[in-house]
Formats: sequence, C-alpha cells, structure tokens
Amino acid sequence: MAASVIGRRVEELTTPAFVVDYDKVETNCNMMLQTCTTMGVKLRAQTKTHKTIEGAELQTGGTKRGLVTSTLDESEFYADHGFDDILYGYPLIPFHMPRVTVLTKRLEKFHVMVDSRLAVQTLLETPPPSSKTWSVFLKVDCGNGRAGVWWEDEEDIDLALSLCSDPTRITFQGVYVHCGNTYHADDPKDVDALRDENIERLLKFVEKAKKRGVICPTVGIGSTPSCRRPADTMKKLNELHPGNYAFLDVQQSTLGSCSLEDIACCVATRIIGHYPRRNQMLIDCGFTGLTKQGEGKMPSGYCVIRDHPNLKLCSMTQEIGFVETVEGKLDYAKYPVGSLLFLLPWHSCATAAMYPVYNIIQNDRIIAVWKPTRGW
Ligand SMILES: Cc1ncc(COP(=O)(O)O)c(C=O)c1O
Repeated sequence: MAASVIGRRVEELTTPAFVVDYDKVETNCNMMLQTCTTMGVKLRAQTKTHKTIEGAELQTGGTKRGLVTSTLDESEFYADHGFDDILYGYPLIPFHMPRVTVLTKRLEKFHVMVDSRLAVQTLLETPPPSSKTWSVFLKVDCGNGRAGVWWEDEEDIDLALSLCSDPTRITFQGVYVHCGNTYHADDPKDVDALRDENIERLLKFVEKAKKRGVICPTVGIGSTPSCRRPADTMKKLNELHPGNYAFLDVQQSTLGSCSLEDIACCVATRIIGHYPRRNQMLIDCGFTGLTKQGEGKMPSGYCVIRDHPNLKLCSMTQEIGFVETVEGKLDYAKYPVGSLLFLLPWHSCATAAMYPVYNIIQNDRIIAVWKPTRGW
C-alpha cells in the first residue's frame, strides 16, 4: 500500500499524513555533521526523533556508525540494518541485561549507559559474552534534573572508579550529558548560558575524576538547542549527541535553533467543514495526528499553520481539530472544504511517533516512504 504513493502529489495523500521535506532533512543532517567537523568532535546522533534507517543514514553521513538510541527496540532495529557503534542511551537496569547481552555479542561496539550503583554492580557480576567487555558510559546530570549522577557529588566519582575496577568485565567509555535543561531557557541567550554551564560542570567532573585516577576517554554533551548554537567551548569536548535537529520543530524555533523554514516535517490535514456561526472550521487532524505537546505555548494554538499566520488550532478531539482566526472573521472562500493545511508541530519527536509511515517529498512529489520502528 505504501509504495503506491510514490510519485504522487501531496494533495493525493490520505490525511492526516506526516510529511518530510527531503532537502530540508538532508540539509539539517549535513549542517550538524559540519558543526562537529568544525568543533573537532565526533557526532553520535540520537535517533529517537525519526527512528528510521534512512534518517540515521543521513545523520551518520552514510557511515552507519555512531548512534545513540532511546530504546532497546531502536538499538536492535539499527543492528538488524547494518549499523554499529550504538549506545543505548537510557539508564540501565538488570531487566535489560538479556537483550543487552545479545547486542553486545552481535555488534562490534555496543554501549550502555549507567547512573546507579545497581547497574554497575550488575555489570560487574554478569560475565560479558566471550572476548567482549561491557562498554559503558556514565551519565552525568549537570543541571537537567532527569537521569544521571550529580556532577558535584564525590560519591559519584566512586561510581566512576568502580567502572574502572575490572577491565576484564567493563570498558569505561567516558561521560555523557544530555543538557535537556536548554529546553527550559527563556530565550536563545539563556540557551547559550545553559550550554556553557553544562560544559563547565562536566569538565569539572572530569577533572575531579582524573585526580582520583579515572580517565574519561569520551566527554560529550548534546541537545539540539545547544548543538544548533555551537560555541568554541564545545571544542573542549570530543562528542556531541543531538537528535531533534534532523526534523526540528516550532519549539526549536522559539529557542533560536532554527527558523520556521528549516523545519523538515509537518502534518498535512484537510479542511472538513465550515461553521460560520462560531467563526470556525474543522480539520481532519485531532490529537492523535499531532499530540497536545504545544498546549499553551503558541498564540497560534497547538501548532503553527504554515503560511497562515492568522489561523489558530484552538482545540482538538481524537480525530478532529478546531481552527479559528487569531483576529477577525474567517474568510471561508480562502479555505475550501477538502483543501489542505500544513501543521508545523511544536515537538516533532512526539508528532512523528503518531505515524506508522513518513511521506518523503521533494518538489511537492512523494519520492519515498520511510517506515519508523515502533516499540520499546
Ligand atoms: C539521553 C539523550 N541524549 C540526547 C538527546 C538528544 O537531544 P535533542 O533531542 O535535544 O537533540 C536526548 C533527547 O531527549 C536524550 O534524551
């Protein structure tokens, strides 16, 4: 069924449909590769935004090496398709070990991420597959307030020391920071300050660890807001791991990561009815086609409606969206029933996750269909 849309125009798609502009996603991926080359750091691309083979090929510049995933399912999916040097970038717990063991066996380089004594103890007590060691990153929290050991805590250096205590079991790869607190910045200047604070704190942690005899071979940070605003401070690191940059979204535009024109994805939706008595029209995209991630964030409601700054998606039910004007009367002649609108999502990772296929377009024609992996 999917192959039948190739060569068709976007207007022929059944809606709502997730549409990706190939030229934009390619440009976004190449720009990040170029940033990393300029900074002299390795790019370990996060795949959680798109979860597709084609997207990861663009992110790795065709090498298929150097990914970070957010689920074991993604790690297995990429392993099945010839990718290697994959970090399962999620706090490890003992329950993960059977699948982690298989991936460690299959891949040349499969890494896990830990932030607890329990995880380190589990790895020290579990024999790795023959001729392999567990390859491990320590996750450090430099202000994000999610997973990770706290950068200032002396006991956390003890955890790093434990990771180096038995090289026949564990190869310590270094430290990993997801500076996701950049998403809470008030403005782009604040993003820059948080980026630099994360780097400074991480380097202090690395220095303290070094004094206790722990060498961190890899020192990396990454979120799209920080990496789309690269600075010389990043040259002190050797790895970046952003992910959302492949698609970008309205949230990124508010943080100074991009302009609305750079956003590579959107939801195509059809107008399904006019309701002049309440100055509204309905579209066939409800919260299952967009999510409610942008609630309360934008004057234009739950998304930005491309090329129509006076339209607002004011509410949604499961399969229906309610569109009105930001100001004034709706000119229904401009919006015939059956015609398309294109919704730029607030959070593309969440919106992409609503769709079993992505329609890839170039010059308004569908040139490919990408199938993301789903599951955990
Ligand atoms: C652990 C981890 N690393 C990297 C990233 C990539 O960050 P971004 O999506 O801002 O590029 C994420 C995103 O949530 C993450 O959770």
